[in-house]
Amino acid sequence: MAANTKPTQNGAPVLQFVRNDQRPESLTNDSQEIQAVSEARQAGLKLHILVNNAGSASPKREVTEDGIERTFAVNRLAPFLLTNLLLDLLKRSAPAKVINVASIEHRQGTLPFDNLQFEQGGYGVVRAYARSKLANVLFTMELARRLAGTGVTANCLHPGAVATNIWSHGPGYVRLVFAVARLFMLSAEQGADPIVQLAVSSEVEGLTGGYYERNRKVTPSPLARDHAIAKRLWDRSAALVGLSPDAHDTVQTHLNPKCTCVEVAFSAQHSSPAES
Ligand SMILES: NC(=O)c1ccc[n+]([C@@H]2O[C@H](COP(=O)([O-])OP(=O)(O)OC[C@H]3O[C@@H](n4cnc5c(N)ncnc54)[C@H](OP(=O)(O)O)[C@@H]3O)[C@@H](O)[C@H]2O)c1
Repeated sequence: MAANTKPTQNGAPVLQFVRNDQRPESLTNDSQEIQAVSEARQAGLKLHILVNNAGSASPKREVTEDGIERTFAVNRLAPFLLTNLLLDLLKRSAPAKVINVASIEHRQGTLPFDNLQFEQGGYGVVRAYARSKLANVLFTMELARRLAGTGVTANCLHPGAVATNIWSHGPGYVRLVFAVARLFMLSAEQGADPIVQLAVSSEVEGLTGGYYERNRKVTPSPLARDHAIAKRLWDRSAALVGLSPDAHDTVQTHLNPKCTCVEVAFSAQHSSPAES
């Protein structure tokens, strides 16, 4: 993973953390990514929009070099960790927004804490993906509760069925279904639109803790609305990445978290260090 900076049309920089295939898929003993976050936090940037978009689905159960089931690591733990690392900067930049790209598939997700990473078996690509996306919604709800009153909002969305490459490494039957289905799917640009809307639309300004499907706020699954599960998952995730459960004030001391990298893009506006 490496950090790229590119300007948007209105001049605000967008920092993107992107995968670097030359490097192992882990943050363990590899502080370059954390360093990049650290530098962004200290460089006098204001961070107004954080979009956790990266996602994948492993066709069979694999573990990262940290020993974490890959789909869970990429889709749940990496955005969890990076968001926590950036929380103090987001709060200092308020008003600010965290947008998590979840999926309608979360409705199929289950969350047995004694088999969270399919350690006891039962792995299936769709099942693992649905679980990780349920975790995205639960993360958003818990984050919104924790950020209440700070001026930082947290929302998540399903972008629609989009003709991208996310299932290109899936098993044969999934690839076959997608080969046909993609004829009727949204383009990548159309899929990005609801993310942009959630980021900039005045209609959602100040709203938090919402789950959106195609620009409409809708009720997520009953599991996704369970506060106790959201809290428990937060604590379990914090333990897995080496953060304290009430992490935001202590993240600077955790420069060796155990987590798999994902892409995280965030928009920021420059300010002088004195302003931040
Ligand atoms: N497509 C859909 O119909 C659909 C529906 C609902 C939700 N979503 C969600 O939308 C988001 C974007 O997916 P997409 O459809 O645009 O799929 P995509 O084309 O496969 O894009 C996924 C992105 O995630 C990045 N990524 C995957 N694994 C990574 C890792 N280990 N480390 C760093 N980056 C990693 C990929 O980076 P590389 O470019 O390096 O591969 C790519 O930029 C995902 O969260 C997905 O779950 C998609």
